Amino acid sequence: MSDIKVIGIGNDHAAVDLKNAIKEYLEGKGYEVVNYGTDSTESCDYPIFGEKVGRAVAGGEVDAGVLICGTGIGISIAANKVKGVRAAAVSEPVSARLTKEHNNANIIAFGARIVGVEMAKAIVDAWLEAEYIGSGRHERRVDQIRKIEEA
Ligand code: RB5
Repeated sequence: MSDIKVIGIGNDHAAVDLKNAIKEYLEGKGYEVVNYGTDSTESCDYPIFGEKVGRAVAGGEVDAGVLICGTGIGISIAANKVKGVRAAAVSEPVSARLTKEHNNANIIAFGARIVGVEMAKAIVDAWLEAEYIGSGRHERRVDQIRKIEEA
């Protein structure tokens, strides 16, 4: 059983509608969702929101994060600069499940210009329902990622 209860969500101007849909969807499933994203469709800079959610996850303010920009890529790159963050940009549920099982991704990211709302829901479901395997080769590799942060 996952111990995720509080989820931080962040987005840029390209993803306001999808952010609102996913926030409502997750709340409907009983999660508390903290909105770190913009609520305006005026052009803004995705690194601001990737960093905010990254710091909230790494600092333990929230248990996990969801990031959405046009592609999901820029905002995940920004979040991954925060120590302790493993943000994965995906566009379908198999990768979402595997990035929890193998990489223990603590942030899932996707693109509002890439996936529709039903695919986005399937992505968050797959990621939230999956469990990190947490032993053997997967643990060794995630530990190696942690060591890169210390170098
Ligand atoms: C904004 O136009 C766009 O560049 C951004 O949402 C994202 O796709 C960047 O990776």
